[in-house]
Amino acid sequence: MKEVTYEGLTFRPYISKEQIQARVAELGEEIKRDCADKVPLFVCVLNGAFPFASDLFRAVEDIDAEIAFIRLKSYEGTSSTGTVKEVLGLNDDIEGRTLIVVEDIVDTGNTIYRLVNDLKKKNPADVKIATLLFKPEALQCDVKPDYVGFSIPKKFIIGYGLDLNEKARNLNDIYILKED
Ligand code: HPA
Ligand code: MG
Repeated sequence: MKEVTYEGLTFRPYISKEQIQARVAELGEEIKRDCADKVPLFVCVLNGAFPFASDLFRAVEDIDAEIAFIRLKSYEGTSSTGTVKEVLGLNDDIEGRTLIVVEDIVDTGNTIYRLVNDLKKKNPADVKIATLLFKPEALQCDVKPDYVGFSIPKKFIIGYGLDLNEKARNLNDIYILKED
């Protein structure tokens, strides 16, 4: 793996695709144990979570599970805009369902906090959060992800769904911003 450059910013390799796949398999095992007697509905938060959701959903192939997609946006460039708007809603009936909201990253937590609150208004049985990445030092809300791939420092990350102005989502590995 080598350094990559986007918009004049240099990023160094941080988490390899092999590490990602190994961790996703572990999270899949946890979800299978927790949801053995349920039919969880995975709610993939587009665009960033789609590679993770695709891998995580297929890591639970021995249980019945469903998937739906929702689209939100709160980031511009490398810092949060602070506003969270729902772009594409969830049409499925979620009353009584066990939801697993699948996120690429929980950073300030504003996005997921708003989303979980909105989902709870529709009376699901349970709303769990699965996030590939978690920045505990950046958290500003009362949210606790149930399934965390990797806890990471408060640095800007790209790859495996995470973008810099919509670019870099197609990198197979995860990269971190070089600051020197
Ligand atoms: N990278 C890309 N998108 C993000 C990040 C990040 O570190 N945090 C929140 N959205
Ligand atoms: Mg983004």
